[in-house]
Amino acid sequence: MKPYKRILLKLSGEALAGDASQGINAKVIQQIASDLEEGLESGVQMGIVIGGGNIFRGVAASAQGMDRASSDYMGMLATVINALALQDALEKKGLATRVQTAIGMAEIAEPYIRRKAIRHLEKGRVVIFAAGTGNPYFTTDTAASLRAMEINADVIMKATKVDGIFDKDPKIHPDAKLYKELSYMDVLSKGLKVMDSTAISLCMDNKLPIITFNLTESGNIAKVIRGEKIGTIVK
Ligand code: GTP
Repeated sequence: MKPYKRILLKLSGEALAGDASQGINAKVIQQIASDLEEGLESGVQMGIVIGGGNIFRGVAASAQGMDRASSDYMGMLATVINALALQDALEKKGLATRVQTAIGMAEIAEPYIRRKAIRHLEKGRVVIFAAGTGNPYFTTDTAASLRAMEINADVIMKATKVDGIFDKDPKIHPDAKLYKELSYMDVLSKGLKVMDSTAISLCMDNKLPIITFNLTESGNIAKVIRGEKIGTIVK
């Protein structure tokens, strides 16, 4: 299989927290940066969308009675914190990065400008897209699908804590079966928890494949980038 030219990596906020489900774990973020450094040696261009769930969960707060729009904005700010932490870790490895935010905060980072993001990618910089889509009611998975489309990525790499998509929860059922390949329709009709339905539909309408893989296994990012078949591909 031919390696990818441009990839959009979706990292959840929890990925930065490690075993604790909250906060930013310095060791974990350094490990992710090392894995990315290894993966990027191939010269692939990479955009990253990062979530914020390790700092603030908008959906959970709104379930407890908080206004959904306000809690979503707090979640978007949380993604900016993670983006700056990831930028710092990547730059410590010597990787050139730019953070762009969907909500204007020019003192902190560049605003999201599609054509500028593409120029950064062409110059070999990792572009971290923060603040989701800038709109409440949209998840960071949807932001990942949207940015992937906008930068003409070949694929979305969705990093998770399990090996891919299973027919049932592998943490509860040891006999759960890993799917190697699924269609968008399979994911939607079976209600498989890969990304929310808005994100999946966007990928389906624009024929953008999604690879879900285990981030906690070191070296996996490089494998996916090289086009090795690990995890589950949705296409
Ligand atoms: P090229 O023009 O392609 O060389 O890109 P560049 O990003 O190196 O140039 P630019 O002069 O735009 O940016 C220099 C530095 O300033 C980079 O680290 C950018 O991330 C940062 N930067 C650019 N625009 C903004 C902004 O609006 N706000 C903040 N906080 N930083 C910015």
